[in-house]
Amino acid sequence: MTEHLTVVDHPLVQHKLSLMRDKGTSTASFRALLREISLLLAYEVTRGLPVEMRQIETPVCSMDAPFLEGKKLALVSILRAGNGLLDGILELIPAARVGFVGLYRDPQTLEPVQYYSKLPAELEDRMTIVVDPMLATGNSSAAAIDLIKASGAKNIRFLCLLASPEGIAKMKAAHPDVPIVTASVDERLDDHGYIVPGLGDAGDRMFGTK
Ligand code: URA
Repeated sequence: MTEHLTVVDHPLVQHKLSLMRDKGTSTASFRALLREISLLLAYEVTRGLPVEMRQIETPVCSMDAPFLEGKKLALVSILRAGNGLLDGILELIPAARVGFVGLYRDPQTLEPVQYYSKLPAELEDRMTIVVDPMLATGNSSAAAIDLIKASGAKNIRFLCLLASPEGIAKMKAAHPDVPIVTASVDERLDDHGYIVPGLGDAGDRMFGTK
């Protein structure tokens, strides 16, 4: 993946995203849509994974067939909203190793504060996909990636559902080596750090909290 930013403009992704944005969409539907959309985004973020050829026997003949090469992928969810993307991706890549980073956003400063970190071993040998539905200020995503790099990861991709121009700029400045895959780049952030037009608080919408 050479582009810093990939916007997945597939009609299925865009349709599901519009349903998720609608404030009338129920918690159950929001969660189901997020799971579905995460499969489609996972397909894009894993494009270009290296493969190796191995000989197999089909019922008809032998052939050299492609298989994923190298160590199992690592998925790192930024708590708590990242878990909504994680579940779908794990259906597609069930053998992936999974880590969690807990950061909350200080409501005054909008700066990230870390409260939890548990990451898979041997990150230096794994492609690591960091997931968080909302790339808003970019502060928590950039801080999470600092932490993940400090644990050895070198080949990192960032997957989100919505991104703001401010968040993309922050990530590009902090981590130019980390490609971003998203379903949309929205207009801007509001004074509370929410993405506009956005979809509201992704965690609240997927877990039914307020
Ligand atoms: N986090 C969210 O859940 N929503 C936003 O709009 C911004 C950050």
